[in-house]
Amino acid sequence: MPEYSEAPKDPAAFTQRFDHFYTRFKPVYDLLVRALLVWKTWLCCALPHLKGPRILEVSFATGYLMTQYAGRLESHGVDLNERMVAIARENLRKRGLRGELRQGNVESLPYPDSFFDTVLSTMAFSGYPDARKALGEMLRVLMPDGHLVLIDVNYPADGNRIGTRLTDLWKRAGDLVRDMGALLRERGLNYSDEEIGGRGSIRLYVATRQAGRGEAGIGHKVSALPHDAINTSVQIPNVHRTSR
Ligand SMILES: C[S@@+](CC[C@H](N)C(=O)[O-])C[C@H]1O[C@@H](n2cnc3c(N)ncnc32)[C@H](O)[C@@H]1O
Repeated sequence: MPEYSEAPKDPAAFTQRFDHFYTRFKPVYDLLVRALLVWKTWLCCALPHLKGPRILEVSFATGYLMTQYAGRLESHGVDLNERMVAIARENLRKRGLRGELRQGNVESLPYPDSFFDTVLSTMAFSGYPDARKALGEMLRVLMPDGHLVLIDVNYPADGNRIGTRLTDLWKRAGDLVRDMGALLRERGLNYSDEEIGGRGSIRLYVATRQAGRGEAGIGHKVSALPHDAINTSVQIPNVHRTSR
């Protein structure tokens, strides 16, 4: 049975610790994301699910993923770390791209209700101390019929040893591994769950707020890619959508 993380006793201290880490790590982070093909490949799995025109990316860090879609979609972003925001702005500027970037916390997003067609967050949910609050806030700003697109770490559905070990390593590094499916179901969301790497430990969730049905969707499906894509270029694997 997967051992999911408990919520931290002091959420503010947890967030502050991570924020200090990102402040120290920021120049290396930008280089790493650009150098690590496997990381870019995971992030790019989100691209086919971005429903426009208006996208919010929460926790964009140095903005690698945003540089992949900002040329064709109205792009907004919030990240807690001021220095990350500055680097991401510069990364967009250098490429002649536009994005409305703000420093802020996922727990209180500075936007009105039902404002975005897509809300996106990659490799960051496991760093939010209060999962329900973060999810609730992302759903608040999402339009009916909008897409919530999350990429994060979880235990592999088939319990394979390597994937399980990898997930345990994330946990040891301080990430909070959650039962994402349970959280999405708790909100009554219709979602797909795809294993995109790390032997099933890296997952892509696409949830839909259905117009006229509140969040009372039904059903989900887990699908897996045959192996991690770690080749010489960033590829977007085929995506198996589920809608019930
Ligand atoms: C591991 S990085 C992931 C960044 C990027 N999305 C990626 O996939 O490479 C986590 C990011 O989450 C941001 N973050 C952490 N806590 C946050 C919060 N409470 N609200 C908004 N952003 C937060 C950090 O500043 C950092 O930039």
